[in-house]
Amino acid sequence: MMERQRDTSSCLWLGRHDPALGDRSPVPDEVEVLVVGAGLAGLATAVQMARAGRQVAVVEARTVGAATTGRTTGKISLLQGTKLTRIRDLHSAEVVEEYVAANRAGQDWLLDLCEAYSVEVQRRDAVTYAGDATQVAAVRSECDAAAAAGLPVTFAERWDSPIPHHGAVILRDQAQCDPAQLLTALVDELKAAGGTVHEGHRMVRVSLTGRPEVTLDGGAVVRADDVVVATGAPGLDRDLRFASLTAQRSYLLAYSGIEGIGAMAISAGSPTHSFRDVPGEEPVTLVGGAGHPVGRTKSEVVGVDRLRGWVVEQFPDAVETHCWSAQDYSPANELPVAETIAIGSSRLHVLTGFDKWGLTTGVAAAFQVSDRVLGRRPGPWPRSAHVSGKAVLRTLTDNLQTAQVAATDWARAALPGGSPDCKVVGVCTHLGGRLRWNDAEQTWDCPLHGSRFSEDGAVLEGPAKRPLRQRD
Ligand code: FES
Repeated sequence: MMERQRDTSSCLWLGRHDPALGDRSPVPDEVEVLVVGAGLAGLATAVQMARAGRQVAVVEARTVGAATTGRTTGKISLLQGTKLTRIRDLHSAEVVEEYVAANRAGQDWLLDLCEAYSVEVQRRDAVTYAGDATQVAAVRSECDAAAAAGLPVTFAERWDSPIPHHGAVILRDQAQCDPAQLLTALVDELKAAGGTVHEGHRMVRVSLTGRPEVTLDGGAVVRADDVVVATGAPGLDRDLRFASLTAQRSYLLAYSGIEGIGAMAISAGSPTHSFRDVPGEEPVTLVGGAGHPVGRTKSEVVGVDRLRGWVVEQFPDAVETHCWSAQDYSPANELPVAETIAIGSSRLHVLTGFDKWGLTTGVAAAFQVSDRVLGRRPGPWPRSAHVSGKAVLRTLTDNLQTAQVAATDWARAALPGGSPDCKVVGVCTHLGGRLRWNDAEQTWDCPLHGSRFSEDGAVLEGPAKRPLRQRD
């Protein structure tokens, strides 16, 4: 089992509030419900199961919230950039309504938990704004889609903000929090309900025959009636779900000297700029952007510097205090995943595809799984009655691009770049993608399905399970 070691060097949240520690006790051999992944979706599922009296254990490869939840913007909003337009483009109006209803249920649950555990929450308007004139149509479209789904949005030509804009759609009274405080509340609630959390245990295999058995990297095997995989990239044997997900990486910069943002805002087009404030003794403003598919950019530093340059141009008094990044998975059909695979009388559940809005969608997905396990009437969830042609086309296009990247890299027989004296072989241990050097994070990133490795080859995240091979 690895030592608990958290990277607090740059992430504002993980530097301010270290989420609660996992349990010191060994992972049990047998439980009713085993959850893999201690991010929001995994912990919320575990809490709901434990509250219902199920014996629950959570295993986490790194530390609580280390991959995505501890690094998010902390926005708890039903207005999510242009998400509703993108769903409406692929599915029916009912599916958009179901998506909003599911997110509302997730939002309500999360805010109740925050109140019970005194997690600091600020009420803010959520805003999707046009960063330039070409984005106005996208903002109007989002306004229409949100209104049709029952959200009380308004369109404003001008919105009181120092962010340069050309119109905005506004949803009042949404919320934001500190994700590290939220993670602590989830772990505390889980423990109070009898569940356990075990850090430093990576799942390497799930047996899909008979009663599910999960093998951990130390060799321990855990048997469970229900296994819930909430790890972003599911990474199951013979599972092709990663082929319909794109791993996306984006950056967050914290600044002092930017005042008056007041709302949680995000632009409607590319390049994306996302804002929120963080109140406190030393208030800061977060600016997010520089998003791209993992491992498919020549230099991450160039992208982050471009974002920095834009911020300084718009806000000359801004002083950067923190910079960090996060990874999340975008589904080709725009709908989050909460799937259940029955294995005899046991079940395997997969939660993923939250597309950077997991603080509400991840909880809704947790409801889906816990409702199935507990035999409750399922809550709202976006279900498409048909497979959208556009979604199929997008999946094919994504996979064609992936194949193209793979073929090009192999044709060039590209050696891992950026670190000529590297000690590892730059071939991904998932399915053999040629790794790219991430000059901002000092990591090896896979352009095919988003696995990431440390400089010395240890698995950080993604579907890969084994470390990189060391060079002779
Ligand atoms: Fe699939 Fe690298 S993550 S090949």
